[in-house]
Amino acid sequence: MATIGLIGSGNIGQAIARQAVAHGHHVVLSNSRGPETLADLVSALGPLASAATAAEAGASGDLVVVTVPFKNHTRIPAEPLGGKTVIDTNNYYFERDGHFPDIDSGQATVSGMLAAHLPDSKVVKAFNNIAAPAIAEDAAPAGTPGRRALPIAGDDAEAKKTVAALIEEFGFDVVDVGPLVEGRRFDRDKPAYGPRLTADQLREALAQG
Ligand SMILES: NC(=O)c1ccc[n+]([C@@H]2O[C@H](COP(=O)([O-])OP(=O)(O)OC[C@H]3O[C@@H](n4cnc5c(N)ncnc54)[C@H](OP(=O)(O)O)[C@@H]3O)[C@@H](O)[C@H]2O)c1
Repeated sequence: MATIGLIGSGNIGQAIARQAVAHGHHVVLSNSRGPETLADLVSALGPLASAATAAEAGASGDLVVVTVPFKNHTRIPAEPLGGKTVIDTNNYYFERDGHFPDIDSGQATVSGMLAAHLPDSKVVKAFNNIAAPAIAEDAAPAGTPGRRALPIAGDDAEAKKTVAALIEEFGFDVVDVGPLVEGRRFDRDKPAYGPRLTADQLREALAQG
């Protein structure tokens, strides 16, 4: 049993929190408005859930999930996340986030920019290419024919092992795409972004990314 700190408790944060609680993990939720605004969600999730500030949620997590609109990634408290494995679910939507020229030009990646903001954390890109409801709907026990696979990318092998184990536990196969920079293969508008794919299908889609 681990404690998972969530920075961001919207669609995807809640979907991850639900799965985590269902598998016996503690979750500490946070958002931008303060823990009191999360009381209903905490109550719905039950005794394994609590709410805190973003800094506290980050500090309390064995594993921390950053799941906010990309434009807010520089507001994530970096110090409490030092040394930790951080799951980055974030996507760049210029319509919502405004333009980031380094991403538009291909000089930077979405997860690379979060990693630059969190230089002492081990950032693993995951859960960005699956719609929030599918985290519950597409989950299936290991060995189920046609089981959905999710990609991960990151520069730290141990951190990727931790995240892969969590994704497996949630009910998905895992495809390791390689270093964090390769996460661009499953960013928005890439063939691997969105569809429900098995591991073999996902590898094919990633190769086209
Ligand atoms: N929706 C999906 O199906 C999906 C799937 C994969 C990936 N994603 C990506 O994952 C990220 C989150 O998506 P979402 O749909 O869950 O967004 P959302 O429903 O809009 O929720 C965003 C959450 O982030 C919190 N937040 C914003 N700024 C913050 C800050 N500075 N510190 C702490 N918390 C902050 C918000 O809190 P307040 O409400 O208090 O402001 C809210 O709880 C986005 O980058 C999105 O592109 C989404």
